[in-house]
Amino acid sequence: MRAPGLVILTGAGISRESGLATFRDPDGIWAKVRIEDVATPEAFARDPARVHAFYNARRAQLRDPALQPNAAHLALAELDRRWPGEFLLVTQNVDNLHERAGTRRLLHMHGELMKARCRHCQTVRLWEEDLSTAVACPACGRAGGMRPHVVWFGEMPLEMERIGRALEGCGIFAAIGTSGHVYPAAGFVAEVAGRARTIELNIAASEVASDFDEAMLGPATETVPRLVAELLAEWGD
Ligand code: APR
Repeated sequence: MRAPGLVILTGAGISRESGLATFRDPDGIWAKVRIEDVATPEAFARDPARVHAFYNARRAQLRDPALQPNAAHLALAELDRRWPGEFLLVTQNVDNLHERAGTRRLLHMHGELMKARCRHCQTVRLWEEDLSTAVACPACGRAGGMRPHVVWFGEMPLEMERIGRALEGCGIFAAIGTSGHVYPAAGFVAEVAGRARTIELNIAASEVASDFDEAMLGPATETVPRLVAELLAEWGD
């Protein structure tokens, strides 16, 4: 029997044990800075230097050699390598730990911290250093328009058609380390409920926990390797 299509959704909780803060935990990012001041198009129009400083600090964390993918990221990369059917890892995270762990069939629906986009010519490119309004776009040469390639509140997430197709064809959906606060990601489980096996992996029930068939409670570095071993034992090559 063919392996079912597999869609995995991850959130900030999967990177927590690598040392990156989540957003809504008590020590999270939104406990220290307001979304309206750093993560909306209006904030960027009002005070681009403040927005750049916020993302420059988070991008600098990703350059820290101490920051490494953890066992959960590595287990998902092995699942991607060995899953014989359709597979898509949709992450809400803008960190690069999934790709550094080796996951290939990966989609960043909220963008990527290590990429920049020019508001004048829309060119997106790898960008690992600080950004500011003084930086001229290497493609069109104009300054003042370079922004983090990150989806802000009020903006459309990326590649929603591709995500919709993957959800339509999936037989197993797992959400890992996400609080279920932010749509459309929080609504994916409702889209597949009834025709896919749905599993939530978290250290606490999310806002949409009741939409899932199953839950695995515990830190991602323990629950994700366990889920991957179970799925590969049943369906692996
Ligand atoms: N293992 C598993 N889950 C964990 C761990 C851990 N070690 N630590 C925390 N969590 C869980 C928390 O219980 C919570 O449910 O991770 C989740 C983190 O939730 P949020 O901080 O809200 O992060 P996320 O769900 O990814 O936020 C979604 O909101 O701010 C926007 O764009 C931002 O992509 C982000 C989106």
